Amino acid sequence: QNQSQGFWAKYSGFFVKGALNTLLFALLTVIAGTVLGTILALMRRSKLWILKAISAVYVEFIRGTPLMVQAFIVFFGTQVLGLSLSAFTAGAIAMGINSGAYVAEIIRSGLNSVPIGQTEAARSLGLSSGATTRYVVLPQAIKNIWPALGNEFVTDIKESSVLSVIGASELMFEGSTVQGASFQPFFPMMIVALIYFAMTFILTRALGFVERRMA
Ligand code: ARG
Repeated sequence: QNQSQGFWAKYSGFFVKGALNTLLFALLTVIAGTVLGTILALMRRSKLWILKAISAVYVEFIRGTPLMVQAFIVFFGTQVLGLSLSAFTAGAIAMGINSGAYVAEIIRSGLNSVPIGQTEAARSLGLSSGATTRYVVLPQAIKNIWPALGNEFVTDIKESSVLSVIGASELMFEGSTVQGASFQPFFPMMIVALIYFAMTFILTRALGFVERRMA
């Protein structure tokens, strides 16, 4: 019996399961991150200093601490509170919390990239400040925000590998499992790398395609 056939028969399922969970994590994260990031970016633009301050502190703190630490804090912190979240749920929450801070900055800089004259013109024509943001600034800001959100999606595919430390099943975790079970430290990680690369390469290409069509 050919040894490599034995390897695939035994372990291909691990890689498939891990890859699918990685995609699921990235998808959930980019959705949660966009919702949270939008709220944080709007808070940052608010006239109420308390909302501004909460948003600024959140973004600074989350971007100033490692995702790995945040994953442990969500996973064990919820246990301390008497909740028992699965590693998957805790991981998804940690990723969403993390990505929200990065997306807030993406949206903030996207909105800031629209020249102030656009706002002044809209306001002098009698649009309210909310209407100005919604109908004048946002449609122009989207051009900068969309590609950066695409990059965030790619980042989330790779960064979800950190969740292996709390035992959440994703590609890195499943790859480590195969390393242990097969007594092969190198080959499974090469497979993992190739699968990550295939996912990010295809996604980058797809996003570039959509971007060119929007231009
Ligand atoms: N490795 C960094 C960390 O541990 C990156 C965090 C994720 N980055 C992102 N754009 N969502 O904090």
